[in-house]
Amino acid sequence: MCGIVGYVGSQSALDVVIAGLQRLEYRGYDSAGVAVQAADSQGQWSLATDKRAGKLVNLEKSLAENPLPGGTTGIGHTRWATHGGPTDANAHPHLDDHRRVAVVHNGIIENFAQLRAELAERGHELRSETDTEVVAHLIGEAFQGDLAEAMRIVCRQLDGAFTLVAVHADAPGVVVGARRNSPLVVGRGDGENFLASDVAAFIAHTREAVELGQDQVVELRADSVTVTDFDGVPAEVREYHVDWDASAAEKGGYDYFMLKEIAEQPKAVADTLLGRIGTDGRLTLDEVRIPDSVLREIDKVVIVACGTAFHAGMIAKYAIEHWTRIPCEVEVASEFRYRDPILNDHTLVIAISQSGETMDTLMALRHAREQGARVLAICNTNGSTIPRESDAVLYTHAGPEVAVASTKAFLTQLVACYLVALYLGQVRGTKWGDEIFTIIRELGDAPKQVEQVLGTMEPVRELARSLADARSVLFLGRHVGFPVALEGALKLKELAYMHAEGFAAGELKHGPIALIEEGLPVVVVVPSPRGRSILHDKIVSNIQEIRARGARTIVIAEEGDEAVVPYADHLIRIPATPTLLQPLVATVPLQVFACELATAKGHEVDQPRNLAKSVTVE
Ligand code: F6R
Repeated sequence: MCGIVGYVGSQSALDVVIAGLQRLEYRGYDSAGVAVQAADSQGQWSLATDKRAGKLVNLEKSLAENPLPGGTTGIGHTRWATHGGPTDANAHPHLDDHRRVAVVHNGIIENFAQLRAELAERGHELRSETDTEVVAHLIGEAFQGDLAEAMRIVCRQLDGAFTLVAVHADAPGVVVGARRNSPLVVGRGDGENFLASDVAAFIAHTREAVELGQDQVVELRADSVTVTDFDGVPAEVREYHVDWDASAAEKGGYDYFMLKEIAEQPKAVADTLLGRIGTDGRLTLDEVRIPDSVLREIDKVVIVACGTAFHAGMIAKYAIEHWTRIPCEVEVASEFRYRDPILNDHTLVIAISQSGETMDTLMALRHAREQGARVLAICNTNGSTIPRESDAVLYTHAGPEVAVASTKAFLTQLVACYLVALYLGQVRGTKWGDEIFTIIRELGDAPKQVEQVLGTMEPVRELARSLADARSVLFLGRHVGFPVALEGALKLKELAYMHAEGFAAGELKHGPIALIEEGLPVVVVVPSPRGRSILHDKIVSNIQEIRARGARTIVIAEEGDEAVVPYADHLIRIPATPTLLQPLVATVPLQVFACELATAKGHEVDQPRNLAKSVTVE
C-alpha cells in the first residue's frame, strides 16, 4: 500500500522518480506527488514539489504544464489513502511550515492525533488530514544539519507501521529513509542510489539491492549508503542480486498486466517446481531450513494468509491432511491472533504471502513465533518482511506480479503448498508410496496442462462478455473445488464489482439455494469422476438441483466427464488431473472469466477501485 521512490545521483531525479512511480502504481492510485531539491542561480537550495489527487497520470499532466526545476535528488509517492480522503492536500509529499522538509510515507502512524495536537500547540499549521504530515513538522523541528539524525529522533516518537522517506532543502544530495513494519529496499547504483517500496521501481537502473531491517534508518548519498538503527548504532544489512530484469515488470505487448500474468502461469509454475523434484522422484527443499528432526515432531499445521493466498491455504489443508495425516487448520490472518490460538513448538505455521508485506499475515506470524511455533513462509518477494521474520522460506518463482488481482502468484502458491505437503510426507514417511510418486510426476505435468487450458479460453471470454449485464454470479465447488469457487468469486468481485459468492456445493440446500432464480449464472467446479467418484456424483446432483430452479449452469469439468453434459448450459473443459491438483487447472478459466467480464464492463483491470496490491496496514 502506497509506493515510495527516492533517488540521489546524477540523472534527473524527477524522471527517475516518475518512472519508478509508474512501476509502483499497483500499490495505490488515489494520488501521487514528488519533491526535488533545486538550487537557484545564487546556489540557494529549496524544494520544488507537485502533487495531485487521482492516478499518476494527473500528476504527469500537471508536471508537463508546469515543469519543476531540474535536480538530481528527489522523492515521490503514489498513495492508497488511509487517513484523509484522496485530495490534492492529502497527497504526499507533506512539507513542514517552512517548506524545507518533504516527507512521503507508507503505513499508519498510530499516535498521530496526539503528535498533531502537540504540534498545533507549538504553533505549527497543519494543512492536511493525514497522519504523515506530523512527521514533516517533527523533522523540521529536530533538524540540526543532519537529516538522518533528525529522522532517528522522530522515529523514536512514532507508534505504528511506517516507511518514511524525506529530503531537506538544507541537506542537498541526501535522501533519508526509515522503516518499521513496512517495506523499503535500497538499490545500489554506480554514483547513484535508490530507495523504493519494491525493487521494480529501480530495476531498470540496477539489480543490486540492499534489504533494510526492522527499525532502521538509511542515509543515501550518490556514493554512499549508511544504515543505522533508530539509536544511531551502525546496522548490518543483507545485499542481494535481483534475478529478474526490467522487462519482467512491463506489459510486454499485453493490454493489461493481468493478461500477461495469466499467460505467464505455465512458466511461473515450471519455475517454482524447478530444481525441487529430483530425478529419483524425491523432493529436495534445501531452503526449508527447519531440520527434518523437527518436522518429524510436528503435530499440527496452521496456515495463515489473506485473500487469494488464503484460498491457496485452504487447498493446502486438503493436501497436507491427506498426504501427511497431520491435522491442519487454515485461518484468515486478520482473525488468527485474536482468537488466542493454541500453538507450541510442535506446531508448524505456514504463512502464505505473495508480497511478503501483508500486515495481517506478518502480525499472525509474529504471534505464532511468540508462542513457540515454527514458521515457514511461502512468498514471492525476495527479502520482504514475512520471509525475513520466518524460520524458513520457500520462495515461489512467479516473477513480479503487478496486476492487483493475483493470478500467477496463486498458482505458484499452490505448487509451493503441494511441495511442502509432499515434503512433510517424505520426511515423515507417511503415505510415502505409489500415490505420492504419481502425484509428483503429475505435478511435473502441471505447466503443460495450464498451457493447454490457456489455449482453449476463447469460449470463456465470449461467455464472460455475454454476462456483462448479469447482476450476480454464484460459484460452487466441493472438496478442493470449494476454495477454487471462492477464488473465482473473489476475482469477479474485485475486478467486475459485482455480487459474486462462492459456496461449498453441499451447503447449498442449507440456505443459499434460495438465491437461485431464472437465468442466474452459476459456475460449478466439478471434481474428477475418477478416484473419489462419490464427490463427483454429489456435485452432478447439485447441478441438477440448481438447473431445475432456473440457474444458467457454467460447468468446469475434466475432459471425458460425460455425466455433466446434459446439465451444462456452458461446458468448460480442463485436463484430467488428480483431484488434489485440479485447482491448478480449474482456477485458470475463472481468472480469464473475471478479467474479460471486467473489461467488457469497461473497468480498469490492473487497478480495481479501492484496492492496493500490498496491504501493509491491518
Ligand atoms: C486478490 C488478491 C488479494 C491478496 C491478499 C494477500 O486477487 O490479490 O486477496 O491475495 O491481499 O496478499 P499477499 O499474498 O501479498 O499477502
